[in-house]
Amino acid sequence: MQTAHSTEEMKGLRRKCKGSVGFVPTMGYLHEGHLELVRLAKNENHIAVVSIFVNPTQFAPSEDFKAYPRDLDRDLALLESAGADIVFIPGDKDMYPAGYDTWVEVKGITQTLEGRSRPTHFQGVTTVCNKLFNIVQPNRAYFGQKDAQQALVIEKMVSDLNMNLEIVVAPTIREKDGLAMSSRNIYLTPEERRSAPVLHKALQLASDMYDKGERDAILIKNAMTRLITAVPAAKIDYISIADIETLREVNAIRGRVLISLAVKLGKPRLIDNVILG
Ligand code: PAF
Repeated sequence: MQTAHSTEEMKGLRRKCKGSVGFVPTMGYLHEGHLELVRLAKNENHIAVVSIFVNPTQFAPSEDFKAYPRDLDRDLALLESAGADIVFIPGDKDMYPAGYDTWVEVKGITQTLEGRSRPTHFQGVTTVCNKLFNIVQPNRAYFGQKDAQQALVIEKMVSDLNMNLEIVVAPTIREKDGLAMSSRNIYLTPEERRSAPVLHKALQLASDMYDKGERDAILIKNAMTRLITAVPAAKIDYISIADIETLREVNAIRGRVLISLAVKLGKPRLIDNVILG
């Protein structure tokens, strides 16, 4: 496994790559969800490249950029065992040198859900992914379904800007009790951790209601709300049932919908989702 600590080094290694390149962008502090993406990238391509960069531009000033968990040595050991070939670890000044002034913005689907709660978030994500794609020049890039809106926004950017790569979205990897894996789960206290599977339980409840024929989105959202508010520490940010393409809320479920939710449990804000129909 090779490492590149600057964009120039990464471009140099990329020039030497033979065959297809699969790319997994990450912010480090890796968990099994990331490692599954790396294994998939390696299975489907000749070379697997992973980036580790805690991207400052996708955090609002009030968010946890400085406190975001980091452990590079552990990440590198995990990546080696998952079969990564190249790890790109750029510095902040390399990605955003003094005078940096170019931004990539997807409109429409970024205005809702995570975008409503975190208005500057997606512009940071699309800008950094665009830069990373330009540097790494992958044939395929891999994202997790847990960040469903992020995956849709990246797919939209790639399609709208005629970018020359395929986006692969892989299923969410869960703990045994259903909690979606996330680097931010380490912020949970033991008691919050015991309550955290309530997000997955609420999504399962929604799926069960749907399977039994319920199509009224308000009734489903009400049942999910009741389940979550039974946990005293849980503060619901949003529960959404939205059209999978436009991310507009629906009242009646007819086509494919994204059921997603964000819940604050103590310090961390957890998100999860399921696609129905
Ligand atoms: O999902 C993440 O970890 C980040 O948003 C990403 C895609 C690596 C961009 O910084």
